[in-house]
Parts: sequence; structure tokens; C-alpha cells
Amino acid sequence: DLSVTWLGQAMPGCLYNASGVWCREEEELEAVRASAAAAVVSKSATLAPRDGNPEPRYCQTPLGSINSMGLPNRGFDYYLDYARRYRYGSGKPLFLSLSGLSLDDNCAMLRALAEEGLPAVPEVNLSCPNVPGKPQLGYDFAATAEALDAFDAAYPGLYGVKLPPYFDPAHFAAMAEILNRHPRLAFVTCINSIGNGLVVDIDSEAVVIKPKDGLGGLGGDYVLPTALANVREFYRLLPGKDVVGCGGVKSGREAFMHILAGARAVQVGTCLYHEGPGAFARISSELAVLMRAKGYRSLDAFRGKLRTL
Ligand code: DHB
Repeated sequence: DLSVTWLGQAMPGCLYNASGVWCREEEELEAVRASAAAAVVSKSATLAPRDGNPEPRYCQTPLGSINSMGLPNRGFDYYLDYARRYRYGSGKPLFLSLSGLSLDDNCAMLRALAEEGLPAVPEVNLSCPNVPGKPQLGYDFAATAEALDAFDAAYPGLYGVKLPPYFDPAHFAAMAEILNRHPRLAFVTCINSIGNGLVVDIDSEAVVIKPKDGLGGLGGDYVLPTALANVREFYRLLPGKDVVGCGGVKSGREAFMHILAGARAVQVGTCLYHEGPGAFARISSELAVLMRAKGYRSLDAFRGKLRTL
């Protein structure tokens, strides 16, 4: 039984897409919803539509992916309209990823969503690494604190944030202290890509993507241990909130690791990009086989039970 109770709702499983992957167009969102995914999150929206950065802007490597998409998206109204027509009755929650280019833009989108009174839940992105000249908000603790105060004022319901990876216990503690001031912040998604990596091609002696002279966000195998560290640390530091695991999930094994580290739900990014929505049925059945072999009948039986030595 892979079902999960989250945000007061019963979900048919724990896996869904990572924002950015298979979720920019309505057809893609519907393909995720129609798959074995247990929820759907839309591409990070800005107020106005964007074409994003010049191509090539995504590259697969043997260990994962690097991207600098630059927030190509249909604009907030497109995803809001999808949310108006979404089949909530399917039991798969809809999350809207919001990535405004300013705090005012994020608050405007939150207010617009609140006015609709829809069951869609915002995941505010504090961690887009790919817009030239825009630093990741989640690495500026004072700006994050100010932003969360503004989100609370703009939006009366439960919401989540997508965090960048942190790499130091002092940073986990500082961010957790800020997040814990916000009772309606119901979940954090850990992690966004490891920002501003550089992949080098020996044959061409060149970088592999065009934007930012080759710098881009890493996903896939590169990021799994960093993702697990962030899930485990925030699971411990944010009592009463949920952690959504994201990073390096390509089989039931990595999904199990994320849940053992404390994840309530698990997102799939790079693997979904390469395999398509069929990945959800495959990973779900692999997770079920692994759980059966270990004698676990529910995710609750092992969530957050990672042992230390
Ligand atoms: C993009 C990348 C991200 O990691 C993110 O959080 C939002 C947008 C992008 O390049 O489109």
C-alpha cells in the first residue's frame, strides 16, 4: 500500500513529477495526471509568459542532467485556468509552482489564486538558479524571511516552498528557524537542482549548454546524497511540517531512501524527463516490491526511520 495522507487528503501513492519536468503544457500535465503519478505540479509560472533561455539549454549526461531553461512557461493565467478545470475528484492533488521575478509578482499570483478559492496548492519556488542576474532567493535568509511574511499576508491557505540545496548545518538551522515562524507553510520540497554546475565535453573542449557560459542546475545521480541530506535535516528541524523529497529518484530504491529520510511524497525530475510518465508505474512497483521484501505494509511504517550509527 503506497497511499499517503497529506494536506488532509488521501493520495493514491507518493510519487509525482518535479516541477519543470513534463508540466509546461496542458497535454503534459494531463499525461502526468493520467499516469501512475499520485499528484501533479505545474511548471514554475511567472506573471507573464516567457520563452526562456537560448538553446541548447538541457543536456543529459551519464550521471544525470544539466539545465538552464530560464523559466520558459505559459504565464500564470494559463496554469490558473488549468487549475480551474482540473479534475480534483481523481484524488490527485494539483500543485501550482510559482516563481515570480519579484516578491510583488509572487504575492500577486498568490492573491489571484486565493481569490479563486480552488483546491490547488501553491509551491512557491525560492530556488530557480537559471535566470541571469537573479540570485536564488533561498540563499538570502533575510530576503526569504521577508518573502514568507509577505506570502502569509497574500495567501490565507496552506502552501509550500521549493528550497535550494543547503550544504552546512548552520544553514539548515538558520533556514528552519525562519520556516518554523510560519504555521501555514505546510511543506518544503527538498531539493531544487544543485545550481550552477559545469559539465565539460572533452571532444569539443566546450561546455554543453549555451546560457550562462555553460553553468546550469544539476539533477539525477549527481544530487541524490545532497537531496537526502536536505530531506533528513529538514524532517528533523521542521516538526509539524512535511518534507517532499526531490533529487536523484530513478527507481524504487531512491524513492525508499527519500521516505526513510523523512519524505511524505517524492518527486521525479531527470528520470521523468528521459523516460516519460511511464516512470511512475515502474518506480511505484519497484518500491512496492522492496517494501514487501522488507515486510513494510505502508509508507508510515518506515518514514523518517533512517538509523544512525
Ligand atoms: C528553472 C529551473 C529551476 O531549477 C527552477 O526552479 C525554476 C526554473 C528554469 O530554468 O526554467
